[in-house]
Amino acid sequence: MIINPVRRLRGEITVPGDKSISHRSIMLGALAKGTTVVSHFLEGADCLSSIDCFRALGVTIENDPAQKLVCIHGKGLHGLCAPKQTLDAGNSGTTTRLISGILSAQPFTSCLTGDASIQKRPMNRIITPLSMMGAHIESLNDNGCAPLKITGAPLTGIDYTSPVASAQVKSAILLAGLYAQGVTSVTEPALSRNHSELMLTAYGANVSHTANQDGSHTVSITPARELYAREIQVPGDISSAAYFIAAGLICPDACITVKNVGINPTRDGILRVCRAMGGQISVENIHNEGAEPVADITVSSSSLRGTVIGGELIPTLIDEIPVIAVLACFANGTTVIKDAQELKVKESNRIDTVAEALKAMGADITATDDGMIIKGGRPLHGAAINSYNDHRIAMAFAIAGMNSEGPVEISGADCIRISYPEFFEDLRQLSDFV
Ligand code: S3P
Repeated sequence: MIINPVRRLRGEITVPGDKSISHRSIMLGALAKGTTVVSHFLEGADCLSSIDCFRALGVTIENDPAQKLVCIHGKGLHGLCAPKQTLDAGNSGTTTRLISGILSAQPFTSCLTGDASIQKRPMNRIITPLSMMGAHIESLNDNGCAPLKITGAPLTGIDYTSPVASAQVKSAILLAGLYAQGVTSVTEPALSRNHSELMLTAYGANVSHTANQDGSHTVSITPARELYAREIQVPGDISSAAYFIAAGLICPDACITVKNVGINPTRDGILRVCRAMGGQISVENIHNEGAEPVADITVSSSSLRGTVIGGELIPTLIDEIPVIAVLACFANGTTVIKDAQELKVKESNRIDTVAEALKAMGADITATDDGMIIKGGRPLHGAAINSYNDHRIAMAFAIAGMNSEGPVEISGADCIRISYPEFFEDLRQLSDFV
């Protein structure tokens, strides 16, 4: 894929549904009593992997991709069937980790794997707490990664302190907690996205949240007798909107509106960073869709300044860091991104992949152990970029290419199908290329 510089960026778009919420709608829909109808479902490869896995567990799921409508005929908490083959989570960390929490409590054994990237991502972060609850999980290559063999067992609630702020870890434990004896609690060092908590509550589970004095957060769940199906309207994914928000701030002659974007405070770090950098950004028409806040976001060409991003802000923008790094190249002064070691264990090592690609474009970037330091203000030039099959890298560098002095060629760009299959069409629709 080749991206050329733009001279103007105008218009209004709606981005696809939130990836995290789409996954959870399949999972809770499968475990609920009744039928869950999901609208604006993300028809991305990751969420389709979740659908495939739950179909293999005996759940009937109808999917109408043209309408972005999914209908899940729930089996109840105890209605899943043993899969006949190995479950394939594809490239999806969310599918792998969350389904492991569910499988840990089933009265059958299942095997779970995914693509080459998934088979390198750390699973001990869920194997450890789920094993403490009584699950039997074996990493078949004995390397703490998938493929996993999960033998369900009666579980007991635990009070677990997670070393990382991770919604995937938290959610895996909470889903297992639905089936455990007693209360299950997870404490994380900073609050990660809380979609599981909100959706579990909407489905009738008993979930509580405490903000602790030391800045950590504890979420607890008591075992559920039943979950009850709900209609779910998936908000636009702020992680997908982030590419257009960034483009609107740095492209010349730009003014764009992204409609109906989820602005859950555990996800809105990108908005806070744009404001801190001096970006012209307005958030209007704020309303709720179910338990999730949603708004229209308008951005226009701005003169940006560097900023410092770290601490509890990191989990609220973890997936947006590649495009924030691009933004930082167009800001005056230095941007420091710290406390973001988690970037190393995403679909690629995003500290390395961002640094490599930005260096290829002539940026002044230093990779650090927990983030990066970017000295902005130097024009970027065209380059050949390797996406390393990481959707967020491919999309972030498309935005860089729109604002560089020459074309950017992105290899492996079809990986955008993971979270945003229509990305390049939407980009073209708004752009007036040079
Ligand atoms: C996700 C949580 C985040 C995020 C991922 C989706 C989720 O991962 O990076 O894209 O849906 O729970 P971690 O929870 O591991 O940080």
